[in-house]
Amino acid sequence: MRTYQVAYFVGSLSSTSINRTLSRALIGLAPGDLEFTEIPIGKLPLYSPDFDSDYPAEARAVKDSLAAADAVLFVTPEYNRSIPGALKNAIDWASRPWGHNSFDHMPAAVIGASPGSIGTAVAQQSLRAVLSFCNARQMTAPEAYIQVRPGLISDEGQVTDSETEAFLQNFIQEFRVHIERVLTVLPRS
Ligand SMILES: Cc1cc2nc3c(=O)[nH]c(=O)nc-3n(C[C@H](O)[C@H](O)[C@H](O)COP(=O)(O)O)c2cc1C
Repeated sequence: MRTYQVAYFVGSLSSTSINRTLSRALIGLAPGDLEFTEIPIGKLPLYSPDFDSDYPAEARAVKDSLAAADAVLFVTPEYNRSIPGALKNAIDWASRPWGHNSFDHMPAAVIGASPGSIGTAVAQQSLRAVLSFCNARQMTAPEAYIQVRPGLISDEGQVTDSETEAFLQNFIQEFRVHIERVLTVLPRS
């Protein structure tokens, strides 16, 4: 059985991030042939084209992780109705130098959690626009806007509500189907 390597970004630097617990829940509910590796973003310097000829180690690590992956998953909060700066910075690093865009043709999915009722919908639209320009092959459905109330997901990623658990399980299963479809026509080199 072949496995698919999924690199994932958590768009929050918070030590108590609900998006990190969401990522744990998704990993726990994922099909057995998906293997997950987080790409840390907290120690990346701010991107500047001045680095294009000589990327720092943290940024090289981001690009190496994406090169080793079959697909990429974004689990992100919404900051001021947009993408958190730390995540956008990581995407900018990965998209450059010009001609070496790490997201080119890569299967991708987006999900996010917020205590607010629209569950990161605006940030996700913003992120989708960025990923579209980066030529990632996004899963467009199902969408997943997760409103988190205290206790919905334990720190370990256990989902306490069966409807939410089934929804998340379907989301990650659909991502697996999407990955296989994309890689069938656009194999990773
Ligand atoms: C700078 C900042 C901006 C925020 N803007 C939004 C927002 O636009 N929409 C929203 O639903 N929540 C917003 N929030 C609240 C976050 O959804 C909430 O803090 C959430 O827990 C962040 O996710 P995390 O726990 O994974 O860090 C904002 C929080 C911060 C710190």
